[in-house]
Amino acid sequence: MITGASQGIGMAFALECAQRGMNLFLVALPDPHLPEVESIIKRKFKVDVITFGIDLTHPDAARKVYEYALDNYIQVNFLINNAGFGTSGLFETSKLDVNSRMIMLNVMAMVGLTRFFIPDLKKNRPSYILNVSSMEATLPLPYKTVYTGTKSFIYSFSLALREEVRNDGIRVSVVCPGSVMTNEEGFKRIQAHGARAKLLVKMPDYIAERTISAVLKGKVEIIPGFIPRALVKLGKGFPTLLKMRILEKIFRVYRDHKTEEIVEEIVSP
Ligand SMILES: NC(=O)c1ccc[n+]([C@@H]2O[C@H](COP(=O)([O-])OP(=O)(O)OC[C@H]3O[C@@H](n4cnc5c(N)ncnc54)[C@H](OP(=O)(O)O)[C@@H]3O)[C@@H](O)[C@H]2O)c1
Repeated sequence: MITGASQGIGMAFALECAQRGMNLFLVALPDPHLPEVESIIKRKFKVDVITFGIDLTHPDAARKVYEYALDNYIQVNFLINNAGFGTSGLFETSKLDVNSRMIMLNVMAMVGLTRFFIPDLKKNRPSYILNVSSMEATLPLPYKTVYTGTKSFIYSFSLALREEVRNDGIRVSVVCPGSVMTNEEGFKRIQAHGARAKLLVKMPDYIAERTISAVLKGKVEIIPGFIPRALVKLGKGFPTLLKMRILEKIFRVYRDHKTEEIVEEIVSP
């Protein structure tokens, strides 16, 4: 089961899993992207694909997804919590309703789905949970405060849960990608940084291939790419205040970003 499977990294996960012969239960917003992905996968691979369109920012969404899975006899043994979005700009001028939807999607949908599916994952062992965090979980970014906060939550939640379910046949992994060329927000971000960002940017299929291989090998923390891995390591060795001053200088270009308008269009079709 993959959330946010109709575009970007989620769609790349779906293609990667289909290529490995896994049947798919794909969840994303109820728009034309999802049936498009379903037909691409069915044309290319001999796997079953079931899709469910739902807005995961709704408080009851996780329960509805779980009930849909039950009604359709879907047995989940690999849960990928990927759906998420971020904005950038000054926190002081951010919109509270956008922040709240970001927390609902990035955090609450992941917590809810994981909670509902854990008993089934236990039954269907060996099983896997993959949560999609970001490099920003360990390098908190000024001007992306709420997004960074949600990704830190996902990171800590995943490490803690892994230990809780270690003896239940469930492996929990967390992936922390750097910049991935997916949507318009990402494209703007990469443009703002110019040549420097290109060192970090990866394509979704690269992230998917590396990540799924690592999850199946039981890896805990996955940071695809040599440079993102080196930067995270470097960041951990720096004194916190100095690290944050440097990050603020580098990411000051996000200060006046108006990504919320783009996000408004995406999440409120
Ligand atoms: N791109 C990056 O640079 C980057 C880096 C690190 C981590 N990440 C993380 O990777 C994950 C995927 O990012 P991405 O860049 O691939 O995103 P994306 O291209 O914008 O795709 C987002 C996916 O989530 C779905 N979605 C959005 N809002 C939803 C909602 N309210 N309910 C249900 N589904 C919803 C979208 O469905 P529709 O197609 O129907 O809109 C789409 O399938 C996110 O958690 C993100 O934080 C991304």
